[in-house]
Amino acid sequence: MLNEKVAELLNQQINYEFYSAYLYLDFSNFYVEKGLNGFANWYKVQAQEERDHAMLFMQYMQNNDLPVELNAIDKPNAELKENMDPLTEGLKHEQFVTSLINNIYDAAYSVKDFRTMQFLDWFVKEQGEEETNANDLIKKMELFGSDPKGLYMLDNELAGRVYAAPSLVL
Ligand code: FEO
Repeated sequence: MLNEKVAELLNQQINYEFYSAYLYLDFSNFYVEKGLNGFANWYKVQAQEERDHAMLFMQYMQNNDLPVELNAIDKPNAELKENMDPLTEGLKHEQFVTSLINNIYDAAYSVKDFRTMQFLDWFVKEQGEEETNANDLIKKMELFGSDPKGLYMLDNELAGRVYAAPSLVL
């Protein structure tokens, strides 16, 4: 049986991951309205990844015989006006999610819950990648986003992102 605090944080993380999916769908919809379908695709794929993260937390809890409580998902709260806004909001959000993962890790570490620490290792790495991706998008947008041709090329590049199932299997 896992520690109560660790179990509570794992359960909360399911909600945060579904919220992330919701937030990125909101970003995707924003770009659809702007006519930037490549950016929209990139965030739609990102939303699928976030749903996978939620499912992994849920599966991990169930593998450990813990009850799962699904709670209401908040309305996405990012204010989006400029093409750059979702990118900077996305980076901020990923930094927040990293802090949440670290927090669960810390709770697991404090009760010597090595099983949960090992499960979370994948997410620690994943968060590193997600922050890098978010930073890269911002840099590219800074470089090319203000030029219509540059923006067109960048949008085409992001249209090529395809969904891949997570490498972590439970
Ligand atoms: Fe599930 Fe983008 O962190």
